[in-house]
Amino acid sequence: MGENIRIQGLTKSFGAQKVLAGVDLEVPSGQITCVIGRSGTGKSVLLKILMGLLRPDGGSIVINGVDITKLGDRELLKVRNRFGMVFQNAALFDSMNVFENIAFPVREHERLKEADLKVRVDAALASVGLLEHGHKNPHELSGGMRKRAAVARALVRKPEFLLYDEPTTGLDPIMTAHVDELIRTTQDQTPGLTSLVISHDMHATMQIADKIAMLFEGRVIFEGTGEDVRTTPHPVVRQFVEGRLEGPITL
Ligand SMILES: Nc1ncnc2c1ncn2[C@@H]1O[C@H](COP(=O)(O)OP(=O)(O)OP(=O)(O)O)[C@@H](O)[C@H]1O
Ligand SMILES: [Mg+2]
Repeated sequence: MGENIRIQGLTKSFGAQKVLAGVDLEVPSGQITCVIGRSGTGKSVLLKILMGLLRPDGGSIVINGVDITKLGDRELLKVRNRFGMVFQNAALFDSMNVFENIAFPVREHERLKEADLKVRVDAALASVGLLEHGHKNPHELSGGMRKRAAVARALVRKPEFLLYDEPTTGLDPIMTAHVDELIRTTQDQTPGLTSLVISHDMHATMQIADKIAMLFEGRVIFEGTGEDVRTTPHPVVRQFVEGRLEGPITL
């Protein structure tokens, strides 16, 4: 049950700027993998390529023996349906209330009776503690509530792969802890789910990750458990984890 994602030699440039320079990463099913790395290293680009929102220049992403980077648009759309994504800025539609935001992907892809749709959406809302807030518009929510609504929208179609782009950036420490716990319980309550979390919050990463990979200068330069990260002498990882100015990472 559950599929691994195997990323090999992934490259992506924008004009003369090489953002991904050969990313190798195995994302195991049934676990939370966290990708860390400083701002601008291409973490969001990596997620967008995984979601099929951007095409890579080279390399492969193999799921169940199929390289999804080689698929045509129609096949890619089918693969994308197996993914849920929580975007960095929550990306809710301001023109509809929270309930409709979460109902949107279901309406788009499934033909459900209104009553059944309500059951599905209410369950998703309840799972993130927003059942009482479905009637509100996104601008009437706090930042943390918006993130939770975005998680509910990503979950509502029961994806096999759940991608989170900086789910806790900009939240207060308590709300951050709630969202971290939500990511963890979502994983633990969904057999076979494969979660990938992009973060530069080391504390959160240590709390939730089964596996941590660090992206630096377009490549994964380190992979391991939280304990491995804590104890590695790798100078780039040490500097990032300790937030020091001196070291191989410069502006
Ligand atoms: N569509 C695009 N066109 C041109 N350049 C882009 C595009 N998307 C991303 N980039 C560039 O790729 C680089 C990596 O961007 P990305 O958003 O992946 O960084 P990030 O690691 O997610 O950073 P942060 O932690 O700040 O979110 C940046 O220099 C960015 O300007
Ligand atoms: Mg980003």
